[in-house]
Parts: sequence; structure tokens; C-alpha cells
Amino acid sequence: MVYGGIPQGSVVMVAGTAGSGKSIFSLQTLCQGARGGEKGLYITFEQEPDDIIEQGREFDWNIDALLKKGSLRIMRMGYPKIQDNGSKAFEKVLEEWRLPKAMSDEIMDEIREFGPKRVVIDSLSTLGSGMRSNIADMMKRDIIKEMIMALKKENLALTIVTSELPRTGDWYSNDGASEFLVDGIVVLHKLSTGMGTSRMISIEKMRKTNHSIAKMPLSIEDGAGIVIRAGE
Ligand SMILES: Nc1ncnc2c1ncn2[C@@H]1O[C@H](COP(=O)(O)OP(=O)(O)O)[C@@H](O)[C@H]1O
Ligand SMILES: [Mg+2]
Repeated sequence: MVYGGIPQGSVVMVAGTAGSGKSIFSLQTLCQGARGGEKGLYITFEQEPDDIIEQGREFDWNIDALLKKGSLRIMRMGYPKIQDNGSKAFEKVLEEWRLPKAMSDEIMDEIREFGPKRVVIDSLSTLGSGMRSNIADMMKRDIIKEMIMALKKENLALTIVTSELPRTGDWYSNDGASEFLVDGIVVLHKLSTGMGTSRMISIEKMRKTNHSIAKMPLSIEDGAGIVIRAGE
């Protein structure tokens, strides 16, 4: 679908509703890279690393061997609840700003320490979800923007940021800004049809390359994991 593959150094958003396969797609991409000698770092805000490993064991990706060899690392990022300690509104905003900033700093530190070529951030939607005020919305956008720019400077082969979409909506991200900052957007569709549910994949954007604009059928299969077959 991307003729010749995703350009080196791209930051690609994988967007889809819950259960559309974002985490499986991301993990599969990391395992594939790790088997080919590109270290992979998976940063999870949502699931425990053990859950992700168990999900990975459903498929023949050699996830345990890759973890053991140190070619794959899964890191959990926690989102501490902001205490309402009666502080003034302004201080609360500052506190809300501090957390995602501290987290994006921690992500960048981990990348510099581990030295991966492929990175997954699952999900971008959760990075800013602790922020509630309107001012915090703008700051969140700034922090995400800063992080995407920082990721582009890290000499990575590929960064995937996942974005959880509501079942209806006009945006690919819930901050309404990161779709303009990323180099590519891949959408995983889960469609209700007359006979049940079907899965599709499409590329909405991919800078610096030509790509298919067709929606292709996608399946999640025993063994392989995500499989896309052209012309079906
Ligand atoms: N072994 C498997 N075989 C086929 N489909 C699976 C398997 N394991 C999980 N799935 C499908 O993948 C979905 C979860 O995918 P996931 O990547 O976690 O979604 P998302 O991250 O988009 O919420 C499940 O709801 C299920 O439909
Ligand atoms: Mg997920």
C-alpha cells in the first residue's frame, strides 16, 4: 500500500476505534523490525506490559525471544491522578501541564538510553487525558507538538503513535492538531456490515511517497497476526 515502504524517519499515526487492532498492528511492526535487527520500544499508557506480551504470544512473532534478547522493550507509563487539594485554578493548570511534560521527557530519556530504531507510543490520546481545563488543552497540543518534533530528531526508522477514535467524529486525533504534525496517518476501520463486522485499512496520508488510497480488507489471523491481502 505504501510503494516501497514507509519513508525512513516517519512519525505515523495509527488511528481507529477501540478494538480496531491498533495495538496489535503496532506490536507486530515492532516485532518484525526487531527480528530484522531494529530494536523496538513499546511505550504503553493503557495496558500492562504483561497483557501486551500475552497478546503478542497469540501470534508467531517470537515475542519472548525478542524480549529476552533485548531487541524489544515494553515500558509502562503511568498517569497519576491529579489531587484536588484545594489549590487555586492557576496552580492546577500548572500541575496539569507538568505531568504530560514530565512524561514526554521520560519517553525521550528512555529512547536515548535504549537506542531503539522503532518506537510505539500507545496512545497519544492518553498522554494528555489527565488535562481538563481549556488552557491545558492548548498546552497539551504544545507538548504533543514538541514531542513529535523531538521524535523526528532522534534518528529513528519509524515512530508509531496510536490514536483512539470515537465511533463518530471528524478528527484523527483527540487533540485536533497532531494529524497535521505527523508524517503519515493509517486508519484501521471496523465496519458493521449486514453480515457482521469487517476490518479494513487505509492510508490517509504519507509524506514523501506515493501510496494507495484504496481501503483494503484486513484480517487478524492465527499465526501471522494482521494480514492485508490486495485484490480480495
Ligand atoms: N488471536 C487473535 N486472533 C484474531 N483476532 C484477535 C486475536 N487476538 C485479538 N484479536 C482481535 O483484536 C482486537 C484487539 O486489538 P487491539 O490491537 O488491542 O485493538 P485496539 O488497540 O485498536 O483497541 C480484539 O478485540 C480481537 O477482535
Ligand atoms: Mg490498544
